[in-house]
Formats: sequence, C-alpha cells, structure tokens
Amino acid sequence: MIVLGLETSCDETAAAVVDDSGLILSEVVLSQFEEHRPYGGVVPEIAARSHLDHIDRLVDEAMTRAGLSYDALDAVAATAGPGLIGGVIVGVMTAKAIAAVHGKPFLAVNHLEGHALTARLTDKVAFPYLLLLVSGGHCQILAVEGVGRYRRLGTTIDDAAGEAFDKVAKMLGLGYPGGPAVQAAAERGDARRFPFPRPMKGRPGCDFSFSGLKTSVRQMVETLPPGPLSEQDKADLAAGFQAAVVDSIADRVKRALAGFRGTAFVVAGGVAANSALREKLQALAAQAGLPFVAPPLRLCTDNAAMIAWAGIERLKAGESDPLDFRPRPRWPL
Ligand code: KG4
Ligand code: ZN
Repeated sequence: MIVLGLETSCDETAAAVVDDSGLILSEVVLSQFEEHRPYGGVVPEIAARSHLDHIDRLVDEAMTRAGLSYDALDAVAATAGPGLIGGVIVGVMTAKAIAAVHGKPFLAVNHLEGHALTARLTDKVAFPYLLLLVSGGHCQILAVEGVGRYRRLGTTIDDAAGEAFDKVAKMLGLGYPGGPAVQAAAERGDARRFPFPRPMKGRPGCDFSFSGLKTSVRQMVETLPPGPLSEQDKADLAAGFQAAVVDSIADRVKRALAGFRGTAFVVAGGVAANSALREKLQALAAQAGLPFVAPPLRLCTDNAAMIAWAGIERLKAGESDPLDFRPRPRWPL
C-alpha cells in the first residue's frame, strides 16, 4: 500500500510518499521561516499564498524522488484541519484533484491524528500508548488506543507551550522561531534568579496553562531597571521561564502516567526538541516503567510523512473520505 501525503496547515509546505511497511519513499519540505521572520510570527495570508506557489512543484518532486507514477498510488491524503484555513484549503484541493484525476481514494487527515500515529511509523509502537503533543499550535496529552480512538486526558486552557516559548522570545528580543533561541539563552542563565510560578502544578486533571507564566515574565521584565535588557538578564529570564515550563509539563505528565496502563510514553511536536524537557520526560517514563519514544525531530515537527502514514492506517481500517469533504480550521481529535 503506497500513499502520497500533503501537509500545509501552518508554515511548512510538505509532500511525502510512504508505504505500509513504514518506509518513507520520498519526503520534501519547504519551510516558510524566512518569509515570516520579519513579522516575528506566522502571517496566515503569506502562508496561504506561499503554499499555493510551491505545492505543485513539491508534489512533483516527491513523486519523482519516489520513482513512481500516480497510478502506483493507493490513495492521496492531506491535512484537512485543524490549522490556518488558507493553507489547509491549498493542500486539500491539491490532494482531491490528484485523487479525482487518477481515480484514487482521498483521505482528509486530522493533523493531530498525524502527530498521534507517528510513533507507529517510526517505532512500530503498539496500542495503547500515552502521547504528549507539544508544539507551537497544540499542547495535549492523549491516550492513543487505536486508529480513530483517541482519549484526550489534558489540553491547554490558553496558549500552547511552543506559543509561550515564541512569545517570551519576542519579549526578550531573542528572535523567531523562539523555542531554540530561548533554549540557547537558558543554557547561559541561572534559573533560580527569577522564581516563576509553575502553572497548574498540583491541580487535579492533566490540563495545561501557559498564558499566566508569559505575563509573569513580562511583569518581571518591568521590575528591572529601564532600558535594554543585558545578555545576563535575558539568559536568566529564559532559564527561569524554561524551568517553569518543564516543571509544569512534568507535573501534568506524571499525573497522566500514574493512571495509565499501556506500551509506551511517546512525545511529539516541535517543543519536544527542547533538551531540558526531553531529559525530564525520559526520567518520568523510566519511573513509570515505560519505554520512552521520541521520533526523530524532522518527524516530530510538522511533516507530510505523518499525514501519508495516518492515511495508510485509515485506509487499512477501510476508511476514506468523500471529495466534498470540507476543510476544518478547528477539528478536535
Ligand atoms: O511542531 P512544530 O514544528 O509546529 C507546530 O505544529 O506548531 O512546533 C514548532 C514550535 C515552535 O513554537 C518552536 O518555538 C518550538 O516548537 N520549538 C521549541 C524548540 N524547538 C522548537 N521550543 C522549545 N525548545 C526548543 N528547542
Ligand atoms: Zn503540528
């Protein structure tokens, strides 16, 4: 079984061809970082136009690199939400057109389902497993019990973790994207100088909150002498903020792991690149006696291989979607 997958829900235009053994036959990604950098964040209109400009060429390239004609495909899958609607429409329309012309099934994939099933593509993880999804757009803990069977144990009540990293980076003048910049600054800083609150720590349930923490960083900056922040101030603020995020996420994960019986603890999303967080999560999995599975970073962040793979899993389960499927800007799993 071979599926072409498309991902266009945020600032990455991506196409990949994957087979049902988990082999990635080809994978092409075009990041729009440079186009959004002057604005310090993703501009939806620019994103949509850029997806439109590049998607056809990327699909051609993915098919050429895989050495396949469209006839060799068993289906075409695209992210149909949640995400920035302009981009999602571009991916969905492209996939539908290819499916219609070549008479192949079309799969409208929930982007979150793509992230949720990646560990089965990379590590053949068996159901059920616990997933922490931490990215710029999402922050959730899911019990992944089967294809189409996701039990949400916790979600953010305001910002996603990556969003908080990006906003704090902007506040400290560290640039975009913010996560890697905050991590780099934090490595030179003293996390004890600014004792930030640990949002949600000790609260029942597994929900997250990061908006208050972001405000605390702003208020802390305002207590410092006026004028530009020194490099040491920035490093100490970054270290304090990162330690608070890691502690808060760890508290939520610990609660989820406590009541969970399954095969593994899996992490996905761009924030999973954070080494302090990764170290902490690995320790929590070990305490819970579960293998810790962190797919390679390029498959943890937004990519099309995960969309093709989710398409394969759904196709195997006998599913496909009609060509009049409407893209969904909001689509809880
Ligand atoms: O999964 P992803 O590539 O895209 C979304 O679906 O959002 O995640 C991007 C997010 C950004 O917010 C970025 O700042 C964050 O992941 N990120 C990090 C690190 N690397 C990327 N956050 C903290 N530490 C990092 N090292
Ligand atoms: Zn994502």
